[in-house]
Amino acid sequence: MRILAQLYVNTQYETWIIMNILGIESSCDETAAAVYTDEGLKSNIVASQAVHEQFGGVVPELASRAHHKTIWRTVSQALYEADTELDTIDAIAVTQGPGLMGALLVGLCFSKGLALSRGIKLIGVNHMDAHIYANFIEEKPQYPFVALTVSGGHTHLIHVTAPFEHKMLGQTRDDAAGEAFDKIGKILGLPYPAGPIIDEKSSEGDPNFHDFPQAMMDGGFEFSFSGLKTSVLYYLEDKDDKFVEKHMNDICASVSRAITDVLTKKLKWAVKKTGVDTILLAGGVSANSMLRAKTEELANDKSLQLYIPRIEFCTDNAAMIAITGHMMAERGEFSDMNLKPFAQLSHGT
Ligand code: KG4
Ligand code: ZN
Repeated sequence: MRILAQLYVNTQYETWIIMNILGIESSCDETAAAVYTDEGLKSNIVASQAVHEQFGGVVPELASRAHHKTIWRTVSQALYEADTELDTIDAIAVTQGPGLMGALLVGLCFSKGLALSRGIKLIGVNHMDAHIYANFIEEKPQYPFVALTVSGGHTHLIHVTAPFEHKMLGQTRDDAAGEAFDKIGKILGLPYPAGPIIDEKSSEGDPNFHDFPQAMMDGGFEFSFSGLKTSVLYYLEDKDDKFVEKHMNDICASVSRAITDVLTKKLKWAVKKTGVDTILLAGGVSANSMLRAKTEELANDKSLQLYIPRIEFCTDNAAMIAITGHMMAERGEFSDMNLKPFAQLSHGT
């Protein structure tokens, strides 16, 4: 194996400069691999699991099996597209959690096997941290900032003062924003995942068609989206199929307004409380066009720097795992073979 270059960045700290990182992501229903080097992102492969569509949500056991089947092919493709080989990889960064336990285990066991057999270093990465640092793949946001991390499993408002210095300002008490989109989509008869479909239909609809409730608008940073889901259910109770079909775009736009209003208002309060002049969006729901437009409006109004990853870096991917691994490697943060997966967030943030 290639010998790593050792540099002295100042008189106090000794830092390993890691050239090539292989990132592996398997926390939910995408099997993903990417190569990130000091020169930037070299490849980014995502294999989505279509098998869950027929069930209207992710089936954990099927996710694990699909990861197992696809992971080696995905990693090979990432190495091929990066025009590199395993021998040039200095560290494997792998999602440690949060996520589905079985799915995480596939990525972790695969990475450990590869690391052990090839004498490559291992780095356990927090998936939610990685969503934030996806913003650093193509830009270099300045600290401090507030990150709104909105995915299928989490809704977080985080004050980030320095790399990996995260203070949670608030999170959801029940459904995550993406989960709300997906569950409401299911009620409306849309396929899983419904978030992108509701987004598309919203662009043709009237966001003021119906006033759905916006919860916890008391000035605090906690979120709740399960009431919105119930209110959609009640709203549709006395509507026939013809009405829903005719007004599908309007209902979708009204739901999108309810969710994105809450998210952007709380982001605005967080900016006021922390005094930051930089904001970031992260996670799958940051692909949402209404949310992107509203945060752009907020940034313009308050003269804030706004960063939103390109769509492919918003939803689950391994480029975000690889860049976070690269940042951890620069800090000398490596894992050993005892690295364990964690399903819930009690880690990092
Ligand atoms: O970050 P992500 O890919 O996976 C998790 O870590 O959960 O986020 C997936 C979530 C799903 O709930 C999906 O419906 C939602 O992101 N999503 C969207 C959009 N694209 C993805 N929600 C609303 N609008 C979108 N354009
Ligand atoms: Zn995610």
